[in-house]
Amino acid sequence: MSTHIKNGAHFAKTVLMPGDPLRAKFIAENYLVEYEEVSSVRGILAFTGKTKTGQEISIMASGMGVPSIGIYSYELYKEYGVENIIRIGTCGAYQPECKVGDVILVTSASSNSSFGSQFDIRGGSISPCSDFHLLLKAYEHAKKLDIPVHVGPIYSSDIFYDQDPNFYKKWADLGVLGVEMESYGLFLNAMRLKKKALCILTVSDSFVSKEELTQEERQTKLNKMFELALTMVD
Ligand code: HPA
Repeated sequence: MSTHIKNGAHFAKTVLMPGDPLRAKFIAENYLVEYEEVSSVRGILAFTGKTKTGQEISIMASGMGVPSIGIYSYELYKEYGVENIIRIGTCGAYQPECKVGDVILVTSASSNSSFGSQFDIRGGSISPCSDFHLLLKAYEHAKKLDIPVHVGPIYSSDIFYDQDPNFYKKWADLGVLGVEMESYGLFLNAMRLKKKALCILTVSDSFVSKEELTQEERQTKLNKMFELALTMVD
């Protein structure tokens, strides 16, 4: 019984999770065979099918922000037998070497979100991170596919339109590669429920160069991330 996903929907053990429901649909339509839509509650589309090499996989949107991915990842892990959630999203780059279109494998997520406060760890702070084995596998598959990757920490922010346009420099000075809005919640749910999570990002805009992917580029440049993510299912 789940509140935000269709009851009885069938999910594969591994779910790829873009933020945008239409991106989930795009991936299902272009990369899966024998797939069906298994949930569309609140427009959050979910599909289960097979990769072209025959492995069962699901694709489901997370919506935007930690609260949204916090809800969907919790229900998938807890109620639908899902073991691995691989977020496939976009980020803003904080470092000059991370160019638009580049792929980042996320090691850990820092955040200004209050999501972790539920754990009441006496003022301590938890460091949510990708599962090591998923991360290693993604790194090795990226090498095989000849996809260059940056590997490192990111910042999951609750704020997209920041009052202070230079605030990012504090995180950049600490070596954080870029900013998105979901990984922190996903990683914490995986840790809490003893499941696995990974985040793969494509740089869609740069705080350093001020460049951003055009609408058309978004479609084409994201493909290599999708292809890499689809190799993650055994
Ligand atoms: N900020 C937050 N999330 C993002 C960004 C950004 O600049 N780009 C893509 N996701």
